[in-house]
Amino acid sequence: HPVPLYHKHPDINSLQELPDSYAWGQLDHEPPNSSSDQSFGSSENSVPVIDLTDPNALALIGHACKTWGVFQVTNHGISNNLLDDIESTARSLFSLPVHQKLKAARSPDGVSGYGHARISSFFPKLMWSEGYTIVGSPFEQFRQLWPQDHGKFCDIIEEYEREMKKLAVRLMWLILGSLGISKEDVKWAGPKGDFKDASGALQLNSYPACPDPNRAMGLAAHTDSTLLTILHQNNTSGLQVHREGTGWFTVPPLPSALVINVGDLLHILSNGSYPSVLHRAVVNRTRHRLSVAYLYGPPASEEISPFSKLLGPSQPPLYRPVTWSDYLGTKAKHFNMALSCVRLCS
Ligand code: SIN
Ligand code: FE2
Repeated sequence: HPVPLYHKHPDINSLQELPDSYAWGQLDHEPPNSSSDQSFGSSENSVPVIDLTDPNALALIGHACKTWGVFQVTNHGISNNLLDDIESTARSLFSLPVHQKLKAARSPDGVSGYGHARISSFFPKLMWSEGYTIVGSPFEQFRQLWPQDHGKFCDIIEEYEREMKKLAVRLMWLILGSLGISKEDVKWAGPKGDFKDASGALQLNSYPACPDPNRAMGLAAHTDSTLLTILHQNNTSGLQVHREGTGWFTVPPLPSALVINVGDLLHILSNGSYPSVLHRAVVNRTRHRLSVAYLYGPPASEEISPFSKLLGPSQPPLYRPVTWSDYLGTKAKHFNMALSCVRLCS
């Protein structure tokens, strides 16, 4: 399916009924464990919440990556002010009239700009969401969106990206450390170990209140084609992660916590011991949900393959070397089969 164009579709911000093109059918929306009795942070039945200042953080992160592929972090050093600012930037952007947003529409073969979720092309139904992807400077597009006050929004984006990059580096070393990988094992981290040439992108997501949430889908199930993803969600739940054999778990929005997803490239680096997490976003009847994802990946042309330290006679490499751009190309063609496409026989 070609990615649908917005101006050919009704504005989901003002619809009173779910059009057939958005009706996915009854979803298994209410997972058995989604009730409010989850005791966050301690239970094996909820996504781990890890305090980054905990002396045990490295081990806790390793366990979370192995068993969940996702965790939340607190005391991560990103100020509440900045989280509020990025959220209100996203809110201002998505509340512009459609004709205005379309001035920054993502071009068919481009990456930056406004549009439907890129994974839309793999599904027969439309998703109840709008997205805005930022790669590089948003200046030109923001000037179209807000002829007057784009400056302050650009500043917020820049500061957010800077802070996310720092946090991503810190998380990378914790995660790699938990695998027993150290600086000398990761040449592409650069001489200072700051992953200077790593790449990042911002994805702003908006999920308007939906007249028929049980038949609609905010963002269909997928894994991220990243090393890791850092997600801020506003105070409205919707993110769900899948666990083999158990089903879907809601990741509750916790004030000032950030969600960390293991992406496909970390899955490959870890030779499958840190599996990338399958996740989706569901919608609700009354609340407007916003999320901001920082997508973190290696330098575009760097070949990623399982760390040799993790391999041995009984641990053959499960994946062939791939660059991020190769992998994105494979994903764009084969979507949820991409990891199997780069898998070696063993
Ligand atoms: C995403 O998977 O990119 C976003 C998920 C969310 O909105 O929670
Ligand atoms: Fe995602």
